[in-house]
This record gives sequence, C-alpha cells and structure tokens, in this order.
Amino acid sequence: MDSFEWNKIAGAVLGTALFVMVVKIGTEAVFYVPPLEKQAYVVEGVEEAGAGAGAGAAAQKEEEAPDWAAVIPTADVAAGTDVAKRCAQCHTWDKGGENKIGPNQWGIVNRPRGSQAGFSYSAAMKNKGGMWTYDELFHYLRSPARWIPGNKMAFVGLPKAQDRINLIAYMRTWADSPAPIPPPVPKAETPAAAPGAAPAAAGGDAKPAADGKAGAPEAPKK
Ligand code: HEC
Repeated sequence: MDSFEWNKIAGAVLGTALFVMVVKIGTEAVFYVPPLEKQAYVVEGVEEAGAGAGAGAAAQKEEEAPDWAAVIPTADVAAGTDVAKRCAQCHTWDKGGENKIGPNQWGIVNRPRGSQAGFSYSAAMKNKGGMWTYDELFHYLRSPARWIPGNKMAFVGLPKAQDRINLIAYMRTWADSPAPIPPPVPKAETPAAAPGAAPAAAGGDAKPAADGKAGAPEAPKK
C-alpha cells in the first residue's frame, strides 16, 4: 500500500515535470527568436564620422589625387579616348572648336576656370576661381555637382579613379604643348609607405618614375 502511494506521488511529480518541459519546449518553438546577425538599430552618422561627416566637399576629401608623375606616363590614353565619348555630347576639344552645351576644352589643363570666350558660365563656376589643375580636374570629374555645387554641368561623374586618370592623360593632349606634369609627390617618412603606395599605381609600372625621380626628395638632408 505504501509503495503504491509512493508510486502515485512519484508519478505525479514526474508527470508535472514532464508537462512543464513540454510546455517550455513548446513555447520556445512557437516564440523562437533567431539571434540578430546585425545590430538592429544603426545610428546614422556614426560610421561616417571617420570618413568626414557633413558637407559633400568634405566627404570627397577622402579621395586623394594620384601622384601624377607616376600615373600619367603609364595611363591608358586610348581608354581615355573612350571615356571622352561621354563628354562629346556637350563639349568639343579641337583647337578653336565651338562651344556647345559646355565650353570648348582646348588647352583645358591649367586653363583658368570659366575662361572660355563666348561661353556663359554659371555663377558658381565663375566665382570658384583658380585653374583646372590635374588635381582639380580629377576631383571635379568624379562628381561635378559635389565638387562645385551649383555649377551647370549636368554630368553625373566618373566614379572610377582610373577612368579619370586615363581621361585626363588624354585631355592634356588637347593643347599645343601638354601641361607639365606636376613633380612627384615626396614619399612619406616611413619606408613602409613605399610598398603601400605601389598598389595605387599598380595599373602601370610605377617603378621607373619612383626610381628616377622620387629618389631625390626622399633622401633626408638631416
Ligand atoms: C550634359 C552636358 C555635359 C556633359 C556630358 C559634360 N559636360 Fe562638362 N560642362 C558642361 C557645362 C554646361 C559646363 C559649364 C558649367 C558651368 O558654367 O557651371 C561644363 C564645364 C566643364 C568644365 C569646366 C570648363 C571651364 O572652362 O571652366 C570642364 C573641365 C568639363 N566640363 C569637362 C567635362 C568632361 C571631361 C566631360 C566628360 C567626362 C564633361 N565635361 C561632360 C556640360 C557637360
């Protein structure tokens, strides 16, 4: 009799435990929430802060102009000719060529900004001043609207740096004598920067320029 009573009690306990387990597993199955792969709430602006939050011009600073002494001699001018087809709708670049929707581009490299005779520039373009240096062309052509806000060149831009380099290598031929290539950018203080800098010019062989010209500025006089 005792053992029978105990069996009943034990059975009740086990049964309850089993019931609780089943309910628990059941609820977990129903309410299963997969773990988050990403942060659910992304705080806008936090990530960008490092790259330069704020104005477009500031954001563009993240891209440095290349070392022209290294990239111009190795640029693919033929590819640049191809890129230039995208400009032909609005620009001519032959000597004495007409102004179309945009001004003629003869002698554009190192030409003062907004100086083509007979073309009516936007105020934004005229007020900016300065010249179309290699660097300026490089930045402007990436995103004309961002580099000179309010200018009226309705062209989206060339996101790929190599496209712009090839194009600018072609653009400098639009002159009686091509604009001189800026002197090589002196190498950074740390020797480690040299191998790091190589991939940037990896498209071509940067060595001749580096060996021939960059040697002088690199040698410390201290
Ligand atoms: C949809 C027409 C259009 C296209 C396409 C276009 N441009 Fe322009 N471009 C203009 C206009 C318009 C201006 C004058 C902007 C102003 O006055 O604000 C201009 C101005 C310029 C200037 C400044 C000229 C100066 O005298 O100061 C350069 C450089 C230039 N464009 C280069 C290019 C290149 C390179 C391409 C091709 C990758 C190109 N543009 C494509 C319309 C265009």
